[in-house]
Amino acid sequence: MDARPTTPVPPPGCPAHGTGGRVPLYGPEFAADPQAYYSYLRHYGPTAPVELAPGVEATLVTEYSAALQLLQDSASFRKDARRWRAFNEGKVAPDSPVVPLLAYRPNCMFSDGAEHLRLRQAVTDSMARVDSRRLARSTEQVSSYLISQFGSRGSADLLGDYAKQLPLFVFNELFGCPADIGDRVLFGISGMFDGVNAEKAAEVLFGAVGELVALKRSRPGDDVTSWLMQHHAKQTDEEMVQQLSLLLAAGTEPLRNLIGNTLHRLLTHDAYAHGGGLIDEALDDTLWENPPMSNLAPHYPAADMEFAGQRLQAGELVLVSFAAANTSPVLAATRQTGSRAHLAWSAGPHACPSKEPARQIAVTAIESLLNQLPDVELAVPEESLTWRPGPFNRGLAALPSRFTPVEPVRRPAPQARPEPAGRQQGTQPSAKPERAGRWSQFLNWLTR
Ligand code: HEM
Repeated sequence: MDARPTTPVPPPGCPAHGTGGRVPLYGPEFAADPQAYYSYLRHYGPTAPVELAPGVEATLVTEYSAALQLLQDSASFRKDARRWRAFNEGKVAPDSPVVPLLAYRPNCMFSDGAEHLRLRQAVTDSMARVDSRRLARSTEQVSSYLISQFGSRGSADLLGDYAKQLPLFVFNELFGCPADIGDRVLFGISGMFDGVNAEKAAEVLFGAVGELVALKRSRPGDDVTSWLMQHHAKQTDEEMVQQLSLLLAAGTEPLRNLIGNTLHRLLTHDAYAHGGGLIDEALDDTLWENPPMSNLAPHYPAADMEFAGQRLQAGELVLVSFAAANTSPVLAATRQTGSRAHLAWSAGPHACPSKEPARQIAVTAIESLLNQLPDVELAVPEESLTWRPGPFNRGLAALPSRFTPVEPVRRPAPQARPEPAGRQQGTQPSAKPERAGRWSQFLNWLTR
């Protein structure tokens, strides 16, 4: 029996008019106030019909316990996107903006069963080898470098100048990228997420990651790339490229938004102005109320089935709204202070395998910024801030700030300065920093 209430009527002006009753999760209206959309979607029951981009239909799970049930039932719900019926039937345009994120790739995110276990184990074991003191040091170094680029101005876009850049630099260090490869990784990832010449950017990224794999096969280092390669999962070169590209993409974009959304919260809520532990608290509240990945976890029913009072067909696209599930009104009433039972990292076998390092990078990045710019504040009215459109990620377009200008830190203290990755491989930063890429410039700054 269908437990849904009768189909709700969209409020006047709601763009669900004209999309066959499906609610669009794209465009400026959705970006401006996604929570209004989630409230409306809840009228359908635990799941609702949505459109991710023009012509791309999906069912969205908005209720917390139904979301958990789906995420933990890997027998009924599969991750392999080659099951996506509408895509296979040609109903989704291959150049639709959501295809790059949803289409199948041979990595742990799109695999099931034994193959998933093998590929995921390689990721979890390699990420577990990241030394937290080294990670804190490299995050602080990158933070100081980025602040040295804008500190004397007394103003900065904390998104574009800081939150967006920092994860990319930290990842280059973690993955042991020498100067020239690191420059292309930064260029490729930024281009792919900015959507500017995305095809060219993806080509540059995959080329650079391929070279990194070849380099580490011949000269392994003390880095995630080499650990992944040495893992008993025995990944082929092709698998290595796919897994590394997944780690880069799945890591840097949500990290940028976790840092950005938490900074936004700290700068706009007086409640965090006093007392220790405020960053951790603001970060947890962000994960509950404004998670960096808002709607994702694409799954495909293995067979026609009944789920949460709704008929689902084999191979139809079902997503989980982490943002809606976390803010379910029933949950809000019972949420304990300090609880981390939110779904911002997802749950079940495909939950984020890197939440500890991700959390550490975000907290260190924010702590270091607030220590260096103690009076930083928003430079524009909060209402004028805009959020990037799109159904999957939740992130600001910019976060303009002002602060008392600071002298640029010339370079980090010697004890806080491990050999940068470029030097470990015996690869010199570019001799001409003015013509070098951003990673080369950082390596030059570090070793000046
Ligand atoms: C060090 C940074 C990070 C790395 C390397 C990383 C890596 C990954 C990988 C490899 C997966 C796929 C796991 C699988 O399918 O078995 C994943 C999933 C996920 N990650 Fe992370 N991640 C990072 C940071 C974050 C952050 C900051 C967030 C947001 C709070 C996040 C949220 C998620 C979510 C929600 C999923 C499930 C996505 C889905 O099923 O579609 N991750 N992550």
